[in-house]
Amino acid sequence: MSDNKKPIISAVGLSKVFRDFWSRPKAKAVNDIDFEVYEGEVIGLLGPNGSGKSTTVKMILGLLYPTAGTLSVFGQSPRAVETKQQVGYLPEESYLYKYLTAIETLDFFGALFNLSAEERRNRSDQLLEMVGLSHARRRRVGEFSKGMARRIGLAQAMINDPSLLILDEPTSGLDPLGCKEVKDLILMLKKRGKTVLITSHLLSDVEDICDRVIILYGGKIRATGTLNELLTVTDANRITTPALNPAVTDKLISILRENLSGDEFTFDHPRKSLEQFFLEVISQAKAESIETAGVVGGGKIAEYLTENQTPEAILNDLTRNTDKVTAAEPAVKREPAENIEEENKAIERLTADATAVEKTAETQEKPAEIAAKAEEDLSKANEKLKDLLS
Ligand SMILES: Nc1ncnc2c1ncn2[C@@H]1O[C@H](COP(=O)(O)OP(=O)(O)OP(=O)(O)O)[C@@H](O)[C@H]1O
Ligand SMILES: [Mg+2]
Repeated sequence: MSDNKKPIISAVGLSKVFRDFWSRPKAKAVNDIDFEVYEGEVIGLLGPNGSGKSTTVKMILGLLYPTAGTLSVFGQSPRAVETKQQVGYLPEESYLYKYLTAIETLDFFGALFNLSAEERRNRSDQLLEMVGLSHARRRRVGEFSKGMARRIGLAQAMINDPSLLILDEPTSGLDPLGCKEVKDLILMLKKRGKTVLITSHLLSDVEDICDRVIILYGGKIRATGTLNELLTVTDANRITTPALNPAVTDKLISILRENLSGDEFTFDHPRKSLEQFFLEVISQAKAESIETAGVVGGGKIAEYLTENQTPEAILNDLTRNTDKVTAAEPAVKREPAENIEEENKAIERLTADATAVEKTAETQEKPAEIAAKAEEDLSKANEKLKDLLS
């Protein structure tokens, strides 16, 4: 399918053997594999535990040396500085500095890519909104729930506006709404021409977003292809229609009976996926303004990211410059500095109330009423923030 596309990653005879203390081969983690990843595709690297996914990813990132074979990323060695500038990485395990706040975390990673202070601030604000963490910008990431840590990790992976994103288990620890948002985000990035490589154990997530998959087992590629190639059952047919009236149904069944034996066909109603059903139930509950004593901010995150085209617009801004990011040329168009200062002060004032409530809730063992009040206040602050930033 990708004959006319440019390979971003190209591996030939790629192998990695881990050795023990005496240099004896211990594990053939990756065993002579060939594959290519093309520009603009979302590719899933799948396989059971220990099949070599993370080892392959670490070689692509230049964190591990291959034992044999060749591997090029953007036509160069994975270790080249130019290559690293174009790659964003969400690791499998949390690697965040727990004493930094969300905003400081993004600022820190932006500084690693030599982005100017203004650029870092602009991007951090937009990324926090995009992943639904604006309300927690001044909270330490050490206090974050697993889902929140995943979100800040995703924002971090995008701070350098990478052309290639490598996401190790991006949806792990997220609730179904969070999963949906991350999947939508990945699809939006694809629309912007980004290439995304994900590893996941959650096959339904992979099925929803990947164009192509590579299935590893014992360090070898066992299957590869587009989902259509791999999953379409070509020796069966399915016709989906609106609900038919009984006369038409009888006619249809009699035609099928004339041509097929009884056990060769089934006639039933299609089923929606559990994910689809779950999302419908939750959005219905939200529409009816049903109270929840769930995670403070969790509901807000979902609301924000599913609202209108706002995340798209933010992404438009963030990915406007698809070439390599330079500190000199800001990729995000903003107001002059005085206005930003003003804006920040206003944001500070608006978030102060919410932060105070959050702190009270933390120090006084978070009774349900305080959590509910915090959620209400956060919601108001978020609405005002959105107005300000739009
Ligand atoms: N640093 C290491 N030293 C020795 N062996 C290793 C090392 N890293 C990985 N391995 C071995 O290489 C093989 C592949 O491991 P890898 O972490 O790549 O698997 P994975 O597919 O990412 O698994 P998981 O789904 O559990 O994350 C395993 O047998 C593992 O024990
Ligand atoms: Mg792994």
